[in-house]
Amino acid sequence: MMKYSIKDRNIILGVSGGIAAYKSVEILRLLIQAGASVRVIMTQSAQWFVGPLTFEALSGQPVFKDMFTEDHEASIRHIDWAQAADGVIIAPATANTIGKLAHGIADDPLSTFMLAVSAPVLVCPSMNNQMYASKAVQRNLDTLRSDGYFVLEPGSGELACGTTGPGRLPEPNIIVDRFTSCLAPNDLAGKKFVVTAGPTIEPIDPVRFISNPSSGKMGYAVARAAAQRGANVILITGPTHLPDPTNVTTIRVRTADEMAEAVFQQYEQADVVVKAAAVSDYRPQESAVHKTKKGKSEWALSLKQNQDILKALGRQKVHQVLVGFAAETRDLEQNATQKLTEKNVDMIVGNLVGSAASGFESDTNTVTFFYTDGTHESLPSMEKQAVAHILLDRIIEKVLPVATD
Ligand code: CTP
Repeated sequence: MMKYSIKDRNIILGVSGGIAAYKSVEILRLLIQAGASVRVIMTQSAQWFVGPLTFEALSGQPVFKDMFTEDHEASIRHIDWAQAADGVIIAPATANTIGKLAHGIADDPLSTFMLAVSAPVLVCPSMNNQMYASKAVQRNLDTLRSDGYFVLEPGSGELACGTTGPGRLPEPNIIVDRFTSCLAPNDLAGKKFVVTAGPTIEPIDPVRFISNPSSGKMGYAVARAAAQRGANVILITGPTHLPDPTNVTTIRVRTADEMAEAVFQQYEQADVVVKAAAVSDYRPQESAVHKTKKGKSEWALSLKQNQDILKALGRQKVHQVLVGFAAETRDLEQNATQKLTEKNVDMIVGNLVGSAASGFESDTNTVTFFYTDGTHESLPSMEKQAVAHILLDRIIEKVLPVATD
C-alpha cells in the first residue's frame, strides 16, 4: 500500500568526503524517521569528516567502508546490498566520486557498489563553486544524467572555503523530499493540480479572528505527493506553520474570500482541484478597523455566510476533476454522500474528526473515499503522506478516466 513512500524501503546512503558530510547524519535521521531501512557506505575520505560509528549507531547496521577486511561478509557486501536496494542517495557527492561514477571506476566500496546497483540514484554534488563549475565536473554530471541518475542541483550561498556560489549541499529535508520523488512514478506529468489547505481566518478586528484548528498537513501532503509524481501543483493555503513544499507554487491567503479569488483564478487551466482546506463557513458581518476595546460585559457577534467555494466550482465544472473533503463528527457516510451530490464533485475524502489519530493537527489520518457510483473505500489509519499517494492513485484509476470520457 505504501508503494510511493520510503517506509519499509531499503535505502543506501553513500557518503563521500566533503565538509557537508555532517549533513548526511541528518539525512540518515530523516530517512529512519520516515520508516526506511538504511545502510551507509562511506569512502575513505568521508571518514575524516564523520566517524562511521555515528552512522552505525543511527542506522543500526554496519557501515560498509572497507572492501578488504577479515570479515568474509564484506567481500560480497556490495552485491548483496545492491540487489536489496530500492534507492540510493549519494550526499555529499564530491568531484572525485562523481568522476568515478561517470567513468565506471570501482576502487572503493561506494564506487564498486554503484556499478552493481540498478535502483534509482540521487546524486547530490557539493564542493567549492569553481570546482563545481569546472568543465570536467559538469561533463561528468551530464554523463550521470544521461546514464539515468537524478542529480540535485547544489544550493548557492557561502561555502565552507569562504567563497560564494553554487556548491552548497541542499538542506536534508529537501534531499529526502527529492529522493522520495525519484522513487515515485511520473504518472501525473503534464497535469495541473490546484490544492487548497489549512484554515481560513476571518478578522473581527485587527487583533482578533474566527478560525479553526486545521494544521494544513493533509493538503500540503497532497500537494507534495502530486509534485513528486510530476504534476504542476499550485497550493493555495490559509495561514499555517508549515514550510512551502518543494517544487510547488505556494500562494498564501488569509480569508475565505481571498482563497476563493485565488482558486477561481487557477480554475480554468486546472485538471484536478483538491479542496482540503477547512474554509470558515462564516465571517463577522463587519470587521472593525481598530481594536475593539473591552468595556461591555457581553459581546454578540453577527456573522455572515461565506460562499461555498467547492460548490461554486462544482457549478462551473467543465473538464475539471473535483475532490472535496468532509470533516464530520458523526454520520460520516450520510454527510459525505450528501456533499458529493450537492457540490457536484467527483470524489469526497471523508474523515471523522475528534480522535487523536485522525483529523486536524495529527500526522496520521483515517479516511474513507466516497465515489459517485455510490461505492466507498475505508483506509486504515496511516501517515497523511501515504493517504495522499493513495488518493492520487484513486484519482488516476477511478476519477480521471471517467471525467475525461
Ligand atoms: N468548502 C468550501 N467552501 C466553504 C466551505 C467548505 O470550498 N465555504 C469545501 C471544503 O474545502 C471541503 C468541503 O467543502 O472540501 C466540505 O467542507 P466541510 O467543512 O466538511 O463542509 P461544509 O460544506 O462547510 O458543510 P458543514 O459545515 O455544514 O458540514
